Amino acid sequence: MVTPDQMPEFVAWAKRRGVIWPSSEIYGGLSNSYDYGPVGVEMKNRLKAHWWRTMVHAREDIVGLDSPIILNPQVWEAAGHTENFTDPLVEDLVTHKRYRADHLDDPTVSPDGNPVSEPKNFNLMFKTFIGPVEEEAATAFLRPETCQGIFINFKQVLETSRQKIPFGIAQIGKSFRNEITPGNFTYRTREFEQMEMEFFVREEEANKWFDYWVEARLQWYVDLGVKKENLRLFKHPKADLAHYSKGTTDIEYRYPWGWGELEGIANRGDFDLTQHQKFSGKDMSVFDDETKEKFIPWVIEPAAGLDRALLVLLLDAWQFDEKGRKGEGEAETTLMVNAAVAAYDCAVLPLMKKEPLQKMAHDLVAKLRAEGKSVFYDETGSIGRRYRRNDEIGTPRCYTVDFQSLEDGTVTERDRDSMQQRRVTI
Ligand code: GAP
Repeated sequence: MVTPDQMPEFVAWAKRRGVIWPSSEIYGGLSNSYDYGPVGVEMKNRLKAHWWRTMVHAREDIVGLDSPIILNPQVWEAAGHTENFTDPLVEDLVTHKRYRADHLDDPTVSPDGNPVSEPKNFNLMFKTFIGPVEEEAATAFLRPETCQGIFINFKQVLETSRQKIPFGIAQIGKSFRNEITPGNFTYRTREFEQMEMEFFVREEEANKWFDYWVEARLQWYVDLGVKKENLRLFKHPKADLAHYSKGTTDIEYRYPWGWGELEGIANRGDFDLTQHQKFSGKDMSVFDDETKEKFIPWVIEPAAGLDRALLVLLLDAWQFDEKGRKGEGEAETTLMVNAAVAAYDCAVLPLMKKEPLQKMAHDLVAKLRAEGKSVFYDETGSIGRRYRRNDEIGTPRCYTVDFQSLEDGTVTERDRDSMQQRRVTI
């Protein structure tokens, strides 16, 4: 786990090992924007696939959707975002730096101790223009949440998927928010990926499903290996709820800078479907076979951030040992991450950069890849160094091809967590 004073070392590790680094660096960077390197993108894709597997493939009652980032601008009118998707912006009257009033200890004083301006509502949606004319009529927005694409497709999905209430629609994709104060590495950025699921239920069952999803989503992180003591639930006070919410509980993580949101579970009531029905004139209700009445379903929404979830997995799994894990050598970093989201399933290492060890190792790589495994091949450096390189990026197992392998077809399997080695047959 990363401690507050280890944050610089963690950020340096992420860059050095091809996980995450500041974006656009050759042009001096772009603040709070990050690239995922070869290791990071593998982990991100796996985490995404893992979420999809749990939320969609493993269930009978959830289907997927992929809707565009730019939607008809009326969507945001109806959803209330044009008016309400705002944060309170204040400006330091001396330095002219800008802050979110609700992030300040005292909303009238900046962190530099200067007085600040009156707060004004700053809309977080990024504006753009459709077509060649930059005028009001062509204004569109980059979506600040993926769920509106789900709401406007609700009836279409219902009709084509043979689902019945209660059922859910899941979507993963980029969202954009012109955050006033992004920061804390990838915790809050202006471009990020969300994994959202809208679960449509009867009003009478909304509380039951809300509790179900809070518990299920919390367990998802625990099953992924996030330490229980670093997770907690936070129920939003009524006065602080988002404009669409009847109740929200956040799953929070103990970040090196303090407790903060990891995922939000909201009871959105019938707000979104009712609004879209009103603005579009299209019927959003469903027919109840039992009561023979039409009703607008309520929505329970577990909304996760992909970048934030990956950050939590990295922070929680990152281990730094000043004198090595055995306590008797150089400093070592180990990423004790769940194998389901490790960048590679395993590494294959010929003991020496020599034939026929290399050929045998390459054959093993081909065999493992044919089985669908993602494999890292590495032949340079001492074997101990190569084990440590793999420990650093969280590879759960290494297979070493040595001279005995040539004779009896066995390899050394070395386990990341226990550092134990044993002979196994190929
Ligand atoms: N549709 C509901 C919704 O978007 P949210 O709590 O605003 O709810 C859901 O966002 C999740 O998206 C958050 O819990 C967080 O993980 C992620 N997220 C939101 N804003 C983010 C940002 N600026 N940078 C990174 N992740 C963000």
